[in-house]
Amino acid sequence: MSILVTGGVGYIGSHTVVELLNRDEDIIIVDNLVNSKPEAINRIKKITGKDFKFYEVDILDEKKLENVFKENNIESVIHFAGLKAVGESVEKPLEYYQNNVAGTLTLLKIMIKYNCKKIVFSSSATVYGDPGTPKYIEELGRGKTTNPYGTTKSMIEQILEDLYISDNSWNIAILRYFNPVGAHESGLIGEEPQGIPNNLMPFIMKVANKELDHLNVFGNDYEGTKDGTGARDYLHVVDLAIGHIKALEKLDKEKNGVFVYNLGTGTAYTVLEIVEAFKKVNNVDVPYKIAPRRNGDLAIYYADPTKAEKELGWVAKRGIEEMCRDSWNFVISNMRG
Ligand code: NAD
Ligand code: UFG
Repeated sequence: MSILVTGGVGYIGSHTVVELLNRDEDIIIVDNLVNSKPEAINRIKKITGKDFKFYEVDILDEKKLENVFKENNIESVIHFAGLKAVGESVEKPLEYYQNNVAGTLTLLKIMIKYNCKKIVFSSSATVYGDPGTPKYIEELGRGKTTNPYGTTKSMIEQILEDLYISDNSWNIAILRYFNPVGAHESGLIGEEPQGIPNNLMPFIMKVANKELDHLNVFGNDYEGTKDGTGARDYLHVVDLAIGHIKALEKLDKEKNGVFVYNLGTGTAYTVLEIVEAFKKVNNVDVPYKIAPRRNGDLAIYYADPTKAEKELGWVAKRGIEEMCRDSWNFVISNMRG
């Protein structure tokens, strides 16, 4: 019996695959490499010393995806495949709805055909919208999303809930990630965005590496944060990967249901706290300038991770130093060649 990992060559997927292989799970990756490089596949094999099947397939390609189910005995799916750039989703909404929502529908249809009804889905804290409190707890439910990317996550959550109502033999975990950063300690896999990054940690990495000359800090007059800069719940990608293992274990124990969990540390750090930690831990310079606020950004939010701790036995163990150290280690050992 195998676990199918869609988007398994990507940032979070590759780290999750490493953790699965380290636990001797039999895995199969499906990825169309739209936002990842095949080199990551060799690196996963190098880290783990294990082999697995890889299919270069778009999840929208029903025939090819079905073939993967035909050729293998797939028991469960961890579904990472999707487009994830908030700004790009505003420019190209149809591509986001097509890829993320239609892609998931195709996957679910084939899963039904092959009687595979166990899925872990990559959702996001963005589905909470702006609930009026910085501490996000699962019971707050989904709010009004502010961009097409967020709306695709919210829609897919709804689709999974409706699917369960229609057939309660499904077993579904919805994981709402906060802000994943960091890389595998080997320095072999990590996040490598193309072009100028949108997210804070990849941007800091390029500034520290002198590919960009300074970081723009988007606003320093936010209320409710320690120094006026935006605050987020950053979590180490390896902790996040382990969260998926725990979610699968939960689904294996339960007969059926839809289970929603926040995956975050429960602590928010400001932009300047991250910059200072990065400089200190890695002994590098990160020049920055205060810039205007970025449209759509909230001042501060973080997870209430209690439910994941109680029901999954999951807590994020890696702190801000490890997040900064491992991010930089990936640059030194990989991006510099
Ligand atoms: P990523 O882009 O590194 O990985 C996604 C992978 O999916 C890539 O390898 C890409 O090539 C693949 N993919 C995309 N569309 C595909 C398709 N149609 N068919 C097959 N493969 C396809 O992104 P990530 O950061 O690893 O994110 C993984 C998932 O987690 C995504 O669904 C993302 O929306 C979600 N998520 C990410 C974050 C974050 O900050 N990184 C936060 C919350 C949720
Ligand atoms: N920031 C800067 N300068 C930059 C980039 C970011 O000051 O160059 C600040 C932002 O204003 C924010 C913080 O750093 O205060 C974090 O920003 P990111 O872009 O790294 O992350 P976001 O919290 O905006 O968004 C992330 C993911 C989204 C996801 C969301 C869910 O990128 O995909 O978390 O909570 F939807």
